[in-house]
Amino acid sequence: MNAATKAASARLVIHRSIDAIRSARNELFAGKTIGLVPTMGALHKGHASLIQEARRQNEIVVCSIFVNPTQFAPTDDLQKYPRQLEQDVALLEELGVDHLFAPSDPSIMYGPHHVTYVDPEGFDDIPEGQARPGHFRGVATVVTKLFNIIQPTRAYFGQKDAAQCCLMTRMVEDLNMPIDVMIMDTIREASGLAMSSRNAYLTDEERDAAPVIYKSLCAARELWKSRKDLSSAELQQVVLSILQEEPFVSEIQYVTVDHRATMRPLERVGEEGAVISLATKVGSVRLIDNIVLK
Ligand code: PAJ
Repeated sequence: MNAATKAASARLVIHRSIDAIRSARNELFAGKTIGLVPTMGALHKGHASLIQEARRQNEIVVCSIFVNPTQFAPTDDLQKYPRQLEQDVALLEELGVDHLFAPSDPSIMYGPHHVTYVDPEGFDDIPEGQARPGHFRGVATVVTKLFNIIQPTRAYFGQKDAAQCCLMTRMVEDLNMPIDVMIMDTIREASGLAMSSRNAYLTDEERDAAPVIYKSLCAARELWKSRKDLSSAELQQVVLSILQEEPFVSEIQYVTVDHRATMRPLERVGEEGAVISLATKVGSVRLIDNIVLK
């Protein structure tokens, strides 16, 4: 069956409890390859690209939608995070996803006596962790829970969240999880703006201004291509100077130049490349993006 036929004939099964997805797993998935795409919903083409790759590589595709409270800081946007299950379900059906795990309530994932967390050392010290203390602990914990519930063969993550990708790769190795972590390229609007559920908060004017983020990252990449021994400070300066020219950029939280695998800061960037990551506010909306120099 080719992908198109599969998509046309697929029937998405929705599971709202752990027991439901567990029994599906035990009865239907036995001996099959399972691709898991964990998400928080408000799905867009970035999520779709992960799902399409999972569809190509696995016999069963499972997507999860759960707005995970433990990865939001108290000041974060947990309450106003976009929730649109019906629309998401329609897209998942179109993409030929077999099973959706969408816990009907956060208490399903975090019972009243929950005390156990997966706490990745050092992640609160990287700039994205400093900006969102406890965020990576929440991500590591919920993804571990999803892995234990669904037991996938492969799990799919987007390069858009560079530190999260690094964390997932470390976590499966450190905790000996028998799962392949697959990292997919960042999907962008035609303007270069990385697709994100948070783009929905941008006003029209802010949306017009936001492509400056990718523009600034591309300028740094061009400089690196033309001269492959640079200090990280030189690359940061290129990014900062372009961002600072845009009046809608209201706060630049960080621009870092890190090792591609460890996300630890680099002093200089040579042939081996790097990842340049940034977080900035456009109006009141916090956006992150990165570019891999390779
Ligand atoms: P969420 O923000 O919904 O993203 C789900 C997955 O989609 C992540 O792996 C993310 O990197 C990927 N993604 C988002 N935008 C993308 C884009 N423009 N291009 C490619 N991939 C993109 O990330 C999370 O949820 C959560 O932290 C989660 C892993 C689900 C744990 O709660």
